[in-house]
Amino acid sequence: MDTETVINAHYVNHLANVNNKKKVVATENIYNQFGALLVPKGTAIEHRVHDFLVGHKMKKQLDEFITVDGCLTANSLVAEFNKLLALFPDLQQIHQCIDFGQMLEHLCSVQQIPRILLQKLTILKLQLPTIFEQTLFSTWLGCMLAKEMKLSPQHIRNTFYVGLLHDLGLLHIDPELISKQGSYSDQEWHSVKHHMMISVAIAKLIYPFDEEVYRGIKEHHERCDGTGYPKELRNEQLSYSGQLIGLADIICHIRTRQYQQSGKSMANIMPYIQINQHSFKYESYQAMYTLVQRAELEISDLLNRKDFLALPKRLILQRVRITQLHLAFADFVALFPKETKGKHSKALIESCEHIGDTIKRAGLNSPETLDWLESISDSDFNDARQELQELDSMHYELLWQFKKVFRIIPDFLQEELPAKAKLAPQLNAHAETMQQNLLQAWTDYQ
Ligand SMILES: [Fe+2]
Repeated sequence: MDTETVINAHYVNHLANVNNKKKVVATENIYNQFGALLVPKGTAIEHRVHDFLVGHKMKKQLDEFITVDGCLTANSLVAEFNKLLALFPDLQQIHQCIDFGQMLEHLCSVQQIPRILLQKLTILKLQLPTIFEQTLFSTWLGCMLAKEMKLSPQHIRNTFYVGLLHDLGLLHIDPELISKQGSYSDQEWHSVKHHMMISVAIAKLIYPFDEEVYRGIKEHHERCDGTGYPKELRNEQLSYSGQLIGLADIICHIRTRQYQQSGKSMANIMPYIQINQHSFKYESYQAMYTLVQRAELEISDLLNRKDFLALPKRLILQRVRITQLHLAFADFVALFPKETKGKHSKALIESCEHIGDTIKRAGLNSPETLDWLESISDSDFNDARQELQELDSMHYELLWQFKKVFRIIPDFLQEELPAKAKLAPQLNAHAETMQQNLLQAWTDYQ
């Protein structure tokens, strides 16, 4: 465990901003590691004291020496979970259907949540409210999935802590990066990718949690098919808690942002689950499927009669684009030199197979599907609209799969393709064309 911690500038800024709304005060003298007084007891942590604190090393973390007015408690944390669920009737329905309220209260209260964790969550709530909402969502869903999978009470508790802790590291990186729209530079991406390790360091200073908690935090952006980060680990190398919180994070993003804009609910999540089943532990997908099925949610019907006939036409075009993308991807991996045996090439080859399997299994490129799409007329509105919307969602998820997998290509080309490989120029050109084709396919969904 680290014995010293450096006071982080972004975190002190967050504290000073919070102090504008709720008092943040030093409860005792704050000294650096050499015993020099930085800030006396009773001082408000405002922007004025920023320079006295930042960059100094301490034996404990800053949070141990401060209090925040109106800090979350176990009871108010339960209230925050309930407030979130009240915003989304479909989540509420799932929650009530499996009677999760009691377990959630139990998790929040039976073993005291460390004061510093509650304090950090309070800062997160006030300074990065979207990340706080995501933290609650992922903790709630991750624990429900763990319960559904019949994991032991200790595993469920560890998943609860992985959920609460996993993104606290974001409080220690530049907030502009967190809200940035568009792609990151290499250096920015490096900082963002580092947040799991900061969260682990914070967790270690808060409480001696089980090893599984630190491991879950580290792994929450890893994916079972090797397409995650930072280590591109694979299924057998990954723990349950990190994968449950990782899956819950993605579902949170889909439900609270993507679906919120389009009016969809958790009932529409099935195409995502079907297409992405290789990315997370298989049991967690089964659990997700069961949760949604059991709640008997009604699928939102978003298609009106006026737009109905445009959909099969768009699906026919998308179908061609997806098939071509997959063929180009298959040609690309077929060109890999025999001596290429790294983790990037392995992930690319397997992902190409998975995408091919999914397309085949769902009949997306079958002649029957094409005949059906071409035969749809206005009179099919009642019978066909739900199936068409599901097909549309599957196309959308497949394009996400391509997007996610293609992110690995630059690393493969740089790190695993021998510089003198004869096929290097061909592979580079091929990769460029695939990226352009993917962009083109996305235009329909903008
Ligand atoms: Fe994260």
